[in-house]
Amino acid sequence: MKPIESLTKDNIRNLKPCRHGAEVHGAAQESGYTTHEILDFSSSVNPLGPSKKALDAIQSAFTEIVAYPDSNSTALRETIASHFNGITKDNLVVGNGSTELMYLFAEAFLKRGEKALMAAPTFGEYERAVRKTGEAVKFVKLDKNFQVDVEAFKREMAGCKLVFLCNPNNPTSKLIPKNHLTSIIDSALAQDILVFLDEDFLEFVDDEKNTSLIPQIDKYPNLFVLRSFTKIFGLTGLRVGYGITSKEIADVLHCAKIPWNVNCLAQTAAAVALKDETHLQITLDLIKKEKTWLQTQLANLGSFRFSPPDANFFFIDIEKTGLTANALKHRMLKQGILIRDCSNFVGLNEFYIRVAVKTHDQNMRLIEAFKQALNPV
Ligand SMILES: Cc1ncc(COP(=O)(O)O)c(C=O)c1O
Repeated sequence: MKPIESLTKDNIRNLKPCRHGAEVHGAAQESGYTTHEILDFSSSVNPLGPSKKALDAIQSAFTEIVAYPDSNSTALRETIASHFNGITKDNLVVGNGSTELMYLFAEAFLKRGEKALMAAPTFGEYERAVRKTGEAVKFVKLDKNFQVDVEAFKREMAGCKLVFLCNPNNPTSKLIPKNHLTSIIDSALAQDILVFLDEDFLEFVDDEKNTSLIPQIDKYPNLFVLRSFTKIFGLTGLRVGYGITSKEIADVLHCAKIPWNVNCLAQTAAAVALKDETHLQITLDLIKKEKTWLQTQLANLGSFRFSPPDANFFFIDIEKTGLTANALKHRMLKQGILIRDCSNFVGLNEFYIRVAVKTHDQNMRLIEAFKQALNPV
C-alpha cells in the first residue's frame, strides 16, 4: 500500500499543531508534580470554577445520556437569546467549544483561492481553521503598543474574504477601541467581507455590555460574534461555546455542522450557568480585586514590562530579566506553577509570557515563585 502520507489531502498533511496553555499533563510529567498539584496560570479561566448550580444540573441530567442530545441545542439557544436584547434562537449557533465554530466558519465560507486576515499575535486556532480548508492566511502585525493598527488592517483587508478579530485579544489582553472596531467592520461590510469577532474574554471586561458588538448584529449582516462557556463560566472541559449572527449565517452554519455536536450535559449546564448571576458577580469582584493586587506585585518585581490588562490575564515582556520565556517557564514549573510561554504566537519573540488572574492565595504563590525564579539562591 502507498504511504498514508501520500493519501492525505495536502491541506491536512501541512497542518501544524497549535500549542496552547493548560498543558498540565506534559507539565506534570516534566516536573514530577501531579496534574492536581500543578497551579495552572497558563489557562485564563474562572479560578472559582463553574457555578455550583450548573454542577448540580449536570448530576441531575446524568439519566439523559442514554439518548442523543438535541442536535441543534434548541433549549440552550432559547436561554442564550433571552439573555440578550433583540436576539432570537435563530441568531444563534452552539458549538463544541467556541473553537469548533472557528473551524466551521472557515469551512463554510472560504472558497478556493480566498484569503483570511488576522492580527499577529492573536489566538492560534484562527490560522489553523483557515489552513485546514487549504486556503491562505494573511497577518497584520499589531503596533508597538500591541493594538490593531486600523489603517493597516483596512488596507490589508482588501481582497480578503474573511477577517478574524479577538476582543480583548489573546495573548495581549487588550481591547480594540469600539470606534476602531466599527471602522474595520464598516469597511468590511462595504467590500462583502465577513467578520469573525471573538468576544470569548469580554465578560471579564468592566463595561462588557457597552463594549460588545452583539447589539449591532442587525446593523452588520457580515458579523459573527463568538462567545464561550469555557472562560468566565468555567465549564472548560465540557466544551460549549456559541456564536451570535444574522439568521442567514446561522442557517448556513447549522446546515454545515456535524449532528449532535454538543452533548446533553454541556447543554444543560451551560443554560444553568448563564442564569447564575450571583456566581458571575462573585467572580468579577474577585478578578477585579486580584488584578489590581497582581498589577502592583508584578510591577514590584522590577524586571517585568506590561500594561494594565483589559482581560483576566497579564501579558508580560520579560526581556529585562535576561531569561527567555521558556527558561522562566521551566524555573516556575520546578515550583509547581505553569505559566504560558508565548513564543509560539506568530509575531512574538521568545521574551513574552502570559499569566491568568486567580484566587488571592494562588496569586501570592505565583509572586513568590516569580521571586524565586528571578533570583535563585
Ligand atoms: C481568544 C480565544 N478564543 C477561543 C478560545 C477557545 O475557547 P473554547 O474553549 O470555547 O473552544 C480560546 C482558548 O484559549 C481563546 O483564547
